[in-house]
Amino acid sequence: MSKPKVIVTRRWHRDVEQVLVERYDTQLNEDDHPMSVAELQDALRNADAVLPTVCDKVTAEVLGVDNIRARILGSNGVGFNHIDLDAAQAAGLTVTNTPEVLTDCTADLAMTLLLAVARRAGEGERHLRNGEWTGWRPTHMMGTSVTGKTLGLIGMGRIARAVAARAAHGFNMKIIFHDPFPPRDEDIAGLNATACASPEEVFAQADFVSLHCPGGKETYHLIGTDALKAMKPGAFLINSARGDVIDEAALVSALDSGEIAGAGLDVFEKEPTVTAGLLKMENVVLLPHLGSATQETRKAMGMRVVENIDAFFKGENPRDKLV
Ligand code: DGY
Repeated sequence: MSKPKVIVTRRWHRDVEQVLVERYDTQLNEDDHPMSVAELQDALRNADAVLPTVCDKVTAEVLGVDNIRARILGSNGVGFNHIDLDAAQAAGLTVTNTPEVLTDCTADLAMTLLLAVARRAGEGERHLRNGEWTGWRPTHMMGTSVTGKTLGLIGMGRIARAVAARAAHGFNMKIIFHDPFPPRDEDIAGLNATACASPEEVFAQADFVSLHCPGGKETYHLIGTDALKAMKPGAFLINSARGDVIDEAALVSALDSGEIAGAGLDVFEKEPTVTAGLLKMENVVLLPHLGSATQETRKAMGMRVVENIDAFFKGENPRDKLV
């Protein structure tokens, strides 16, 4: 029997690509270019499985193409707001993602942003590399202490809970959170975390607000002018979730006017374009969507996709089936 044809939309961890090549009739994206709408449509027409990443926009337009051969989209990433799930289902496609394997890595990065912006690490590094450092002095580049402060989490899923564990046990932080789908008590045991009835209740108390909600229609611009005004004047905003949760124009104004003290961002509203105002600010730390970017995690994510498509082609239910 011939092997199923698989198209991978970007370069993946080499060990995972090797497994895919061994098990499937695999087409890799040798030069790692972002695929156009037409290329994604061709992939759907020509492969049994298409393996996109969070940067491929698998929209209703892409999925509306005639003569789809693909039966599964094995997405490499936990977020799935880049895929129109209704359109995928209407086109008869199974869709899977890669939860769990990137939880710790992304939580580590959220803490990296939090610490970096509070302690002015990005600014300090630029200062030193620019040859501006004249030596230690008591008033030089004073930041904000993290230990013992209040961390407010918007969303209390796996990644938020991993951030809470780091913050509570490593930095003695008080944890508050809001999630419209609250976690079970056993999932937050030992975190000393207090639920808030609304995001506003979190904004009013938190020294650091960290976003861990999904992207998409429900959370679009959740952090806009009103939310930013509701935060404490010295607060910091951290986003390792999805860019469109923040209205970046409103964020620039709030940072400019000193309404909040700073921001640490790994994701952006119009990724990979970054709002120009942010690029000029010293009190923001900006990373290029590196949440899950470690060798270990990217390999584990890729292998989770392989596990999902292996199950699918054996006629089993993939573990991470979304639709
Ligand atoms: C995801 O899986 O949603 C992450 O953003 C990838 O880094």
